[in-house]
Amino acid sequence: MRLEILSSKAEVRAAVAQARREGRTVGFVPTMGALHDGHLSLVHEACGRCDHVLVSIFVNPTQFDEASDFDAYPRDLSADLELLSASSVEWVFAPSAAEMYGAAPQVIVDPGPLAERWEGACRPGHFAGVATVVAKLLNVAGADAAFFGEKDYQQLKVVERLARDLDFPTRIVGCPVVREPDGLALSSRNARLTEPDRRAATVLYRALSEAADCVIAGECDAQRLTKEMARTINAEPAAALEYAAVVDPETLEPLEGLVCPARALVAARFGGVRLIDTMELCPNGKVT
Ligand code: PAJ
Repeated sequence: MRLEILSSKAEVRAAVAQARREGRTVGFVPTMGALHDGHLSLVHEACGRCDHVLVSIFVNPTQFDEASDFDAYPRDLSADLELLSASSVEWVFAPSAAEMYGAAPQVIVDPGPLAERWEGACRPGHFAGVATVVAKLLNVAGADAAFFGEKDYQQLKVVERLARDLDFPTRIVGCPVVREPDGLALSSRNARLTEPDRRAATVLYRALSEAADCVIAGECDAQRLTKEMARTINAEPAAALEYAAVVDPETLEPLEGLVCPARALVAARFGGVRLIDTMELCPNGKVT
């Protein structure tokens, strides 16, 4: 199948409407590009479940709380298109900011209490930017299902809630974290790590895995687990911890005792690069 590159919302609407008239299902994978195997796992899942797949590539300025992070965000559209042309994706939507937002938009989506803690507290305005662009993209795509990674666990929960509370007909599908062989979660930002910081960054996976192992061994005090994750990350001199938390998987509120499954969330900076990771904690075994 030949990959079609669409740059306007009207083209996306027309292509999806045509597929739907023919009775075919459409899957949608929103991304900011610099694609890696984490993104491709979502694409693979979408291709397995839907007749046609649309991938969007748009580095959304409104979700960056730091201009330097937006400027440094990796962009390589031709490499992305090459990767996608080896898959059975049919359409790529790669709009300009002007096409995406038009002139001086005034309405934004308030993502509510789920967005207040963790990433929301560290990155003011981030989830309003995410929720607004995802609402717009879901409206333009009109897909049957949209695929999001658990890697950005709080984002997944905010998007699920957005779809539910605002009655989007698209089903939101969460997909597991894809990791490097040494455990580091794949991220477009990993390319910006220095070699020593790249080695140090595996501490996030180590802290999460230790917590998961402690839960399997019978630990059920969430505060002890949280302290232990923070201790492990703080023991790595190259890591500047932002948070380590054990939370309810739906409300994202910190836990005292453990629910099953619970969710561990961590965030730390390595040099100028901010990384996040997550893992399910469950006495029956490690999941992602
Ligand atoms: P981006 O960071 O490009 O990620 C696009 C999707 O890929 C997200 O759903 C993210 O959770 C998923 N993903 C990233 N790394 C992953 C990994 N290692 N394993 C599994 N999935 C992974 O997230 C965004 O873009 C933006 O916020 C977006 C939703 C596109 C809105 O602008």
